[in-house]
Amino acid sequence: MPEPAHAPPIARPDTAAAFAAEVIARTGLTEEVLARLVHRFYARVRQDAVLGPVFAARITDWPPHLARMCAFWSSVVLMSGRYHGAPVSAHQGLPVDADHVARWLALFGETARDTCTAEGAVLVEEKAQRIARSLQFAVAAAAGGAPALRPQG
Ligand code: HEM
Repeated sequence: MPEPAHAPPIARPDTAAAFAAEVIARTGLTEEVLARLVHRFYARVRQDAVLGPVFAARITDWPPHLARMCAFWSSVVLMSGRYHGAPVSAHQGLPVDADHVARWLALFGETARDTCTAEGAVLVEEKAQRIARSLQFAVAAAAGGAPALRPQG
């Protein structure tokens, strides 16, 4: 019997550490860079006329929120598994509409481009946009309404 023809192996890292190493080599998004991104982003959010008041009304103790957001981005980008939270319920009942979400994404994109390599900024912006969309759907579904999405052209 001839040997069965095998497809070439898929380049798939075996471990979380190998995955993270590959992402870091490609994008420069180390834990340190992600932490800098998070801290700079929320410093800007807090100064922002649109977003600042929404966060100020909910968060008085910032260090735990920043630590949680560092863990979140580490989990999203490096698959570190450091984040264990409930993002949908955290956003339920917030007084936000499509303008807030657009502002959040614009400010996040600006901060990413100031803080990360070009490859790193593209990666985190794409993740943020996807998560923002799914969060809006999940929050709206939980509230029984329609998501506050801008019409997509
Ligand atoms: C209009 C846009 C947004 C606003 C106003 C907003 C606001 C907030 C606030 C106020 C909290 C803290 C809730 C609390 O602890 O009481 C929070 C938590 C959080 N947000 Fe957002 N957010 C927005 C968009 C996003 C997006 C796009 C992401 C992800 C890419 C995100 C990820 C998270 C995560 C992971 C938490 C922590 C949830 C937990 O585990 O407690 N948020 N957000």
